[in-house]
Amino acid sequence: MTWRLLLPLLTSFLLVWTAIPALSQSEWITEVETQCASCHDIEEVCENLDESESYWRETLDRMVGQWGVDLSEEEIATWARKLTDAPEKLRTGLCP
Ligand code: HEC
Repeated sequence: MTWRLLLPLLTSFLLVWTAIPALSQSEWITEVETQCASCHDIEEVCENLDESESYWRETLDRMVGQWGVDLSEEEIATWARKLTDAPEKLRTGLCP
């Protein structure tokens, strides 16, 4: 492959990559409130903050697959990690 072919490919890859927004913690918490408190209380989430990452992957999978929540595969993985990362800190920002 020559640079003629490789360069546009690299450029478009970089463009797509940098276009993915990285949410700050507080933006993300707002996102959780918006996405997750319409069918049940946010307490449903708060009560389970001590659960494992795999619990959250399964639960988020079900929220998406069964109940139609709008999250991508990547978002499910990121959210599951964030939900288990610092439960106490998250509780302060998220829970009543
Ligand atoms: C469209 C409606 C709807 C939305 C939006 C929704 N949920 Fe749910 N959720 C449900 C229903 C219905 C149940 C109970 C049945 C079940 O557990 O599948 C539930 C149950 C739960 C439970 C309890 C599961 C357990 O172990 O008992 C958790 C935790 C949860 N949701 C988290 C979330 C999170 C996090 C979000 C945001 C990403 C979210 N939900 C958004 C409908 C929704």
